[in-house]
Amino acid sequence: MKKTGIFYGSSSGETEYVAKQIQKELGGENKAEVINIVMASQEDLQKFDNLIFGTSTWREARMQYDWEFYQNLLDETDFSGKKIALFGTGDQVNYPDNFVDAMKILYDKVKENSGEIVGAVATDDYRFNKSKAIVNKKFVGLPVDETNEYQKTPQRVKKWCETLKKEFH
Ligand SMILES: Cc1cc2nc3c(=O)[nH]c(=O)nc-3n(C[C@H](O)[C@H](O)[C@H](O)COP(=O)(O)O)c2cc1C
Repeated sequence: MKKTGIFYGSSSGETEYVAKQIQKELGGENKAEVINIVMASQEDLQKFDNLIFGTSTWREARMQYDWEFYQNLLDETDFSGKKIALFGTGDQVNYPDNFVDAMKILYDKVKENSGEIVGAVATDDYRFNKSKAIVNKKFVGLPVDETNEYQKTPQRVKKWCETLKKEFH
């Protein structure tokens, strides 16, 4: 597998923590680079054929603030030929009607600019009412709930990374 770029936006560190777990599961620093979106350049996005984007969801369907601030980076990137996987941190108990909604915003931007999304996840393991991040009955990426189900995160990340290792370039 080619080296993966993991880009994240994180307000209180939960998404950053998950990004680092994903890096570890993919084989560490030689296999995956973790980059905070506030530090990212257009060249950083261009240099990887495999990309992972992670965002938390805020106030019903909004991306984490740094992703909103730097969303022009995505608007200006041509994702043709790249494979992109998404993960979203959220809270099923307090925001059951908007669980990990923001993943869908990243999904739409990537699709708009010709990227191929991989790593969809079944909804069975989660309890929520509604999520905008569901397409064809699956989440468009990996949902993680560090508030209520942090104990499930390592296994969820591990399983997801196993599928990415097969799907990525
Ligand atoms: C004010 C507020 C609004 C939130 N809104 C949502 C939401 O609409 N949907 C959701 O799934 N999680 C929501 N969350 C939960 C966060 O997305 C979750 O705690 C996430 O792990 C934070 O990650 P971060 O610290 O990396 O930004 C909200 C949290 C707060 C404090």
